[in-house]
Amino acid sequence: MVVEKIRIRLIYPDGSYYEYYTFAGVNLWHTMAANGIDVAGSCSGRGTCGKCKVRIEGQVNDLSEEEREYLLAEEIKSGERLACYCYVNEAVDVYLHYGDFNSDVKVKLFREINNLQPEVEWRQIFVPGLDKQTPVPLQRRIKKALPGLMLDLSSHNWNELATLDRVGRPALELHCLVFAQQLVRAVSRAEKRAYGIVLDLGSTSIFAALVDLQSGKIRSMTAKTNMQRVYGADVISRVSYCLDNSDGLTRLHQVLINNINAAIEELQRDAEISPDDIYDFAVVGNPVMLHLLLGINPSGFATAPYSGIFVDELTFNVHELGFTAGDNATVYILPQAGGFVGADRCLLSATAV
Ligand code: FES
Repeated sequence: MVVEKIRIRLIYPDGSYYEYYTFAGVNLWHTMAANGIDVAGSCSGRGTCGKCKVRIEGQVNDLSEEEREYLLAEEIKSGERLACYCYVNEAVDVYLHYGDFNSDVKVKLFREINNLQPEVEWRQIFVPGLDKQTPVPLQRRIKKALPGLMLDLSSHNWNELATLDRVGRPALELHCLVFAQQLVRAVSRAEKRAYGIVLDLGSTSIFAALVDLQSGKIRSMTAKTNMQRVYGADVISRVSYCLDNSDGLTRLHQVLINNINAAIEELQRDAEISPDDIYDFAVVGNPVMLHLLLGINPSGFATAPYSGIFVDELTFNVHELGFTAGDNATVYILPQAGGFVGADRCLLSATAV
């Protein structure tokens, strides 16, 4: 069976836009919420608050009498609709009336500390070409040219190198991306860009900053409303949602991942980089949010002594979490202060803002 996919383009007041694909026939409010987009409204898409107004260009279902009651005649004339009443069957442009992310307090905070110490550098090496009589694997030749360093390359990177290593080539000039003077995370013919992303997962908003790992400078920032709010306004009600619904944890986890990927894709688009240019993620947040991020049952926060199952740092490959990034990217979850206090509070107090 062929399932039809359609494009949704969301256009913010400043003219910037975000596109994603979804299935024909879905409810606009629900698909936006599931994709981590800030959807106005306070009735969780039940059609009773009248606040999820958007202007739509493209074909959606006809205006119902019920929806009409929430809209002024001029709004109807200009194409305004309530997102939670709309079902999309073909590509649409959706104009949002909000989304001034630059006013976020954490954007200001990160501008203040925009001078991180870089620990990443490119090193040039020359390795002998592949000898027909006494062939030495390229891995060994690279290791010999980088004494004391460890190789941590993705299979995709090894595949790229395989295309370069041909018999008859006298030598190979390669560039190596070295982290903290000890770990080689990429080897290529030319120097490329290397970025990391800082994520702060709050219960009401998600903040993300793209950091140039070589200069230590922030290239781009964004903040998004945490769409888990649809399932509970605060972390306590979200913990309850997980306890009360068999698929509650899965749902909150997936909404958060979609939310984060929307932020990541926006940063990539702003800086015109590809997912392969991202090597590291540093994640802070309150402990309940970190449990939901990892899909770990947060029931420990529901009763005394109100603690989760981890508090120290954790490390994952990016694909375990489903972030949009290159194969070799690593996700570092920073240590929490404990209880309901996460590493984000430590960051804020350390910078005394
Ligand atoms: S979200 Fe309340 S009317 Fe649409």
